[in-house]
Amino acid sequence: MRTARLLVRRFTPADLDDFLGYQADPEVRRHMRGEPMTPERAADYLKAQSVLDDHAPGAWHAFAVQHLADDRVIGDIGVWLPAEPEAIPDIGFQFHPAYHGRGYAREAVEAFLHHVFETLALPQITATCAPANTASQALMKRLGMRLTSATPQDVQYSLTRDQWRAAGCESA
Ligand SMILES: CC(C)(COP(=O)(O)OP(=O)(O)OC[C@H]1O[C@@H](n2cnc3c(N)ncnc32)[C@H](O)[C@@H]1OP(=O)(O)O)[C@@H](O)C(=O)NCCC(=O)NCCS
Repeated sequence: MRTARLLVRRFTPADLDDFLGYQADPEVRRHMRGEPMTPERAADYLKAQSVLDDHAPGAWHAFAVQHLADDRVIGDIGVWLPAEPEAIPDIGFQFHPAYHGRGYAREAVEAFLHHVFETLALPQITATCAPANTASQALMKRLGMRLTSATPQDVQYSLTRDQWRAAGCESA
C-alpha cells in the first residue's frame, strides 16, 4: 500500500533496528499495556510476521510503515484476525515519536483501512485504547470511527465497511 509519503507493507527481519527504535520508547508505551519486546523477541516477531499469510486467523498481522524519503520504518499498524468468525477484528497502531503530529499515522491507517475492508473484505473493525490516550482517540475520530463503548479501562471505537465506503473511503 503506497501513499504520498509512505509504503505500508509486511515487516521483514531487516526492519529490526528501526522497530527497536520506537517500540520500547516510553512515549510510545505510555498508554499501552504489557512490556515492550526484548531485541531477541522482536527479531523472532518480525521473522514470523514476514512469512505470515495475510488471511491467517487467530493471529496479529503487523504491517510496517516505511517513510519513503527517510527510507526507514517509522511505525506499524496491525489487525487481529480472530479465529471465531463472529468476532470483530481489532486494529492497532504505534509510531516513532519523531513522526507524531505530522499526519503520518492518519495517512498510513487510511491506506490500511482499504486493505482490511477491500482486500481482506472485513465487514467491520474496532480499535481500543486507554481513556487517557487522547492522541489515539483523536486519530480514530479523524478516521471516521465511532465510539461504541467506554469503561474506566478502555474506550472502543468501531467502523463498518459501509460507513467507510459512505464517507468516500477516507475519513470525514
Ligand atoms: C496514536 C498515534 C499513532 C497518533 O499519531 P498522530 O501523529 O497524533 O496522528 P496523525 O497522523 O493523525 O497526526 C495528526 C496531527 O498531525 C498534524 N499534521 C501535520 N501535518 C499534517 C499533514 N500533512 N496531514 C495531516 N495532519 C498533519 C495534524 O494537525 C495533527 O496535529 P494535532 O495532533 O496537533 O491536532 C501516536 O500518538 C502514537 O504512536 N502513540 C503511541 C502508541 C499508541 O498509543 N497507540 C495507540 C494504541 S491503540
